[in-house]
Amino acid sequence: MGSPLLATKPLHVIMQEASDTGEMSLRRALGPINLITLGIGAIIGAGIFVLTGQAAATSAGPAIVISFVLSGIICAFAGLCYAEFASLIPIAGSAYTYGYATLGEIFAWIIGWDLILEYAFGAATVASGWSGYAVSLLDDLGLHIGPQWIATPGAEMVYYKGHWTALASLQQTMSSAGIDPTKLPHATGIVNLVAFAAIAAATFILIVGIRESANFNSAVVILKVAVVLVFIAVAGAYVLEHRSLAASHWHPFIPPNSGRFGDFGLSGVARGAAVIFFAYIGFDAVSTAAQEAKNPQRDMPIGIIGSLVICTLLYILVSGLLTAVVPYTDLDVSAPVAIAIDVTGVRWGSLLVKSGAVLGLGSVMLVMLLGQSRVFYSMSRDGLLPKWAGAIHRRFRTPWISSLVVGIAVAAFASLIPIGDLAVLVNIGTLLAFVIVCAGVWILRRKRPDIPRPFKTPLVPLVPILGIVTSLAAMLSLPAKTWWRLLIWLGIGLLVYFFYGRTHSKVRNLSLTAAPESDPVAGRNALL
Ligand code: ALA
Repeated sequence: MGSPLLATKPLHVIMQEASDTGEMSLRRALGPINLITLGIGAIIGAGIFVLTGQAAATSAGPAIVISFVLSGIICAFAGLCYAEFASLIPIAGSAYTYGYATLGEIFAWIIGWDLILEYAFGAATVASGWSGYAVSLLDDLGLHIGPQWIATPGAEMVYYKGHWTALASLQQTMSSAGIDPTKLPHATGIVNLVAFAAIAAATFILIVGIRESANFNSAVVILKVAVVLVFIAVAGAYVLEHRSLAASHWHPFIPPNSGRFGDFGLSGVARGAAVIFFAYIGFDAVSTAAQEAKNPQRDMPIGIIGSLVICTLLYILVSGLLTAVVPYTDLDVSAPVAIAIDVTGVRWGSLLVKSGAVLGLGSVMLVMLLGQSRVFYSMSRDGLLPKWAGAIHRRFRTPWISSLVVGIAVAAFASLIPIGDLAVLVNIGTLLAFVIVCAGVWILRRKRPDIPRPFKTPLVPLVPILGIVTSLAAMLSLPAKTWWRLLIWLGIGLLVYFFYGRTHSKVRNLSLTAAPESDPVAGRNALL
């Protein structure tokens, strides 16, 4: 017998649990277009609307376009591996369930704990981005919130051109314009109450369980894509009219490295790719809809890869135009896309972009918080987290305690930690999950070639290996402090596992009982 740490969860149990919660009875109603729309809805958010500007201004310059291509390639490798798992284990539990069924309990725990970084910290990142656009929209509508309540603690704010803006993001603009920032009105951030309120509202919606309306969701996706397309059209027309200005903004395309890794130059392009990777997160949401797909074998990869390809194209165009319209040094602001459309002189454009971002980022926040409570719910049902984490409210039928605990923690992160720090932590965590999922596909192919796989990742082991190597390379281009934070996070996770999960795990007890012969992925160490 192998180590109990590698106990796997039998597939028949996973399927049984899914039918208990009604997942098995989901209607197979989604075609390829619906799946692509679902993916785009989860993908387009704070990454393109906020982080692109920051990454261009501080790491890659106009070459942020190349960063988007690189990041898209990493996601394509991982996406193909997700697609194989999604068709093999078509359950809405994502990478945590895949890990439990195939690699064993300790890996499942690590992925589950790691997914907290992706979903909970991801929701906090989006809330922080949301607050930038919401404050800007409210400003336009004449509703002003005090600067100390729209920034994280200690952030220096200055009043410039009619808005309160973070001083750090204006340094370059001011020095080139010869403005002395000490002469401008100052304020220091206390807490970002707007981001806090956004998470509080989203948590309330999740707890009372307002039915996710497919129509509302589609409307938000259409609006979000429309805003992106309008930006492309308006900025594209502006660039065609001001070719020499745009060319000067794009020169030098890759600004020279400052001497430090990640500060422009080629390492800056790599750092930029690892930062804007955030913009692609969410395509794995398609894999959770495997049981609702009419033809998962054909449509899972179409949904995952299709949404990735469309977003990659949109991102390349948006980032290219953004840096052509506004000098990249001016883009480290909270609403860069709105600033760029302002420059074009299209007056309604800015209002449209801000409204689209506020609604669009709101829906991404909901999807992430929902994903987080689902992962907690699954982990608690498996005994790896205490029962309260899976407790369902009698009237609302939602996992209210875990939603509330997650909501409070996420609201605190969003209101206290700057968006840049949050995003890179989410990225390193998600990239680690990619590494484990890619490795899982390869290992499972070797250990259990017999399991029927409705969709097969092409060119195994090449694609999983490329997924692992490129994800690791992106992780390596993130700052050292992000690595430390990841290691501390995983260390805390392992302590929780060894002091709680290991002794309460249901699968360990279950694995003492013989599994039925028909189960393809049954029993302890079936695969390892
Ligand atoms: N990709 C999502 C976003 O950019 C998470 O907000």
